[in-house]
Amino acid sequence: MTPVELIGLAKQAMQRAYAPYSGYKVGAALLTKAGAVYQGCNIENAAFGPSNCAERTAFFTAIYQGEREFAAIAVVGGKDGVVTDVFPPCGVCRQVMQEFCGPDFLIYMGRGDDSYETVRLDALLPYGFCAKEYMNET
Ligand code: THU
Repeated sequence: MTPVELIGLAKQAMQRAYAPYSGYKVGAALLTKAGAVYQGCNIENAAFGPSNCAERTAFFTAIYQGEREFAAIAVVGGKDGVVTDVFPPCGVCRQVMQEFCGPDFLIYMGRGDDSYETVRLDALLPYGFCAKEYMNET
């Protein structure tokens, strides 16, 4: 699975976005270390607060399926589903990545063409809060 292929799956997932309020459609494709891919889209809500980002949709779907080892995530987004520049993950999604991924987890942020930016989680979320000593389950 190349980064461009993973970004292609994020663009496919973006088509499922439910974004009637902001108009920003976002897609994500999460790659496990074993090579499985879980896609996600943003899902908005009239009350705004309950809205869920594409990245967290992908993570929570994968976690529910029993996955715990992640290699990378591709993210794309744009107004009305038109992808131009990169669409970096929000702070909440970065914290969810911190919960389940190591510092070398890769984030591919795709553009409308086949170009993209790659950033490690420890660069996207420096000094990220981690409380692994409280966790009994991996
Ligand atoms: N959004 C995502 O899906 N991922 C992010 O990392 C940033 C924001 C969504 C949430 C909302 O539905 C829309 O983009 C506009 O903020």
